[in-house]
Amino acid sequence: APQVPDILSPEFAANPYPAYRVMRESAPLIWHEATRSYIISRYDDVERAFKDKEAAFTTENYDWQLEPVHGRTILQLSGREHAVRRALVAPAFRGGQLRDSIQPVIERNSRELIDAFRHTGSADLVRDYATRFPVNVIADMLGLDKADHPRFHGWYTAVIAFLGNLSADPEVAAAGERTRVEFAEYMLPIIQRRREDLGDDLLSTLCAAEVDGVRMSDEDIKAFCSLLLAAGGETTDKAIAGIIANLLAHPDQLAAVRQDRGLIERAFAETLRYTPPVHMIMRQTARDVEVSGGTIPSGATVTCLIGAANRDGTRYRDPDTFDIFREDLTTTTAFSAAADHLAFALGRHFCVGALLAKAEVETGVNQLLDAMPDMRLADGFDPAERGVFTRGPESLPVEFTPVGS
Ligand code: HEM
Repeated sequence: APQVPDILSPEFAANPYPAYRVMRESAPLIWHEATRSYIISRYDDVERAFKDKEAAFTTENYDWQLEPVHGRTILQLSGREHAVRRALVAPAFRGGQLRDSIQPVIERNSRELIDAFRHTGSADLVRDYATRFPVNVIADMLGLDKADHPRFHGWYTAVIAFLGNLSADPEVAAAGERTRVEFAEYMLPIIQRRREDLGDDLLSTLCAAEVDGVRMSDEDIKAFCSLLLAAGGETTDKAIAGIIANLLAHPDQLAAVRQDRGLIERAFAETLRYTPPVHMIMRQTARDVEVSGGTIPSGATVTCLIGAANRDGTRYRDPDTFDIFREDLTTTTAFSAAADHLAFALGRHFCVGALLAKAEVETGVNQLLDAMPDMRLADGFDPAERGVFTRGPESLPVEFTPVGS
């Protein structure tokens, strides 16, 4: 049998793509002892698990993955309960709201961060921009006090450490559970005040939302806000760093995007395919399921490798090449399951924030390109990715001639 590097090995963390290829081609179903899960890697198998036409793949695994840090979120729910809960939050992230009330928040937050370095001629776009921008946008959308943003960032860091804690370090786990308590102590009084005095922010929208006579409790709203830290923060953070890193590594495509900003949409879609922010998503089987390479028994945890599926040669031509002009790429980021790469998943839990993420990335990239017309990687710097569950550039030191000097 071919040697497949372990997903928890340093070799895999340094570069998972060769291992993904071996899995797809010769070991499409693997039992992984350390995470006690079955790993699937082919596009067709992962797509099938996400779409779940046969009602065999549940999200019950999130009860132990998410509940300790977030409480009960829509990711844990299924069936009609999920549909109603999702309908309560989804309108807040759709076209009209985005254009009218969120787009100005996105533009302002991006500009503030860029203004802090635009006159200096250098920046680390991971440290100074990507890790801050989406979290600031969420805090602002919720209508939180600016003075509280540093605490919000602290919880963000603890939450993503908890979720990425594949090797189950007890200290990281304990810090995650403390975060749940602190976050609740902070958010619940704010939610209660909002109920008495509704404004036009996201918290007020969530307080007022009603579907089929169902409304969100304070605890529901708090859990959803907590989920947004990871779901809307870390992912978009890595998407922005990823699109910039991919373009810097392909100067001809960067030049094309500078010329025609309409191409950012394609660059975003190709970045999500080629270097997705979320590499792994888990599911639980509700019965025995046949996939490539064998049968997954009922009640098992399944690790779905988005990072591997997105580079499946049976789905994409020349899958290991970053090419924003590829013909087998769909750029739709609709609420339906229309997107063809698997970075936003598919089906019932398809990313609710996909349009928001797209707006953030398009605005951010436009502003970064304007502020740094000759942006280049710092001399001799060779970018490296980091992370196994979620993955993105570790740092992106750039240099540029400040505009106007
Ligand atoms: C769901 C990825 C941005 C909020 C998901 C899922 C993925 C994903 C893979 C499905 C999880 C599963 O099925 O188990 C991404 C990526 C993003 C991004 C790659 C950025 C490029 C955002 C943003 C928000 C957000 C900006 C909101 C502020 C959510 C929520 C869910 C979700 C609430 C749960 C939906 C449900 O259970 O019905 N996202 N996401 N995401 N995402 Fe995103």
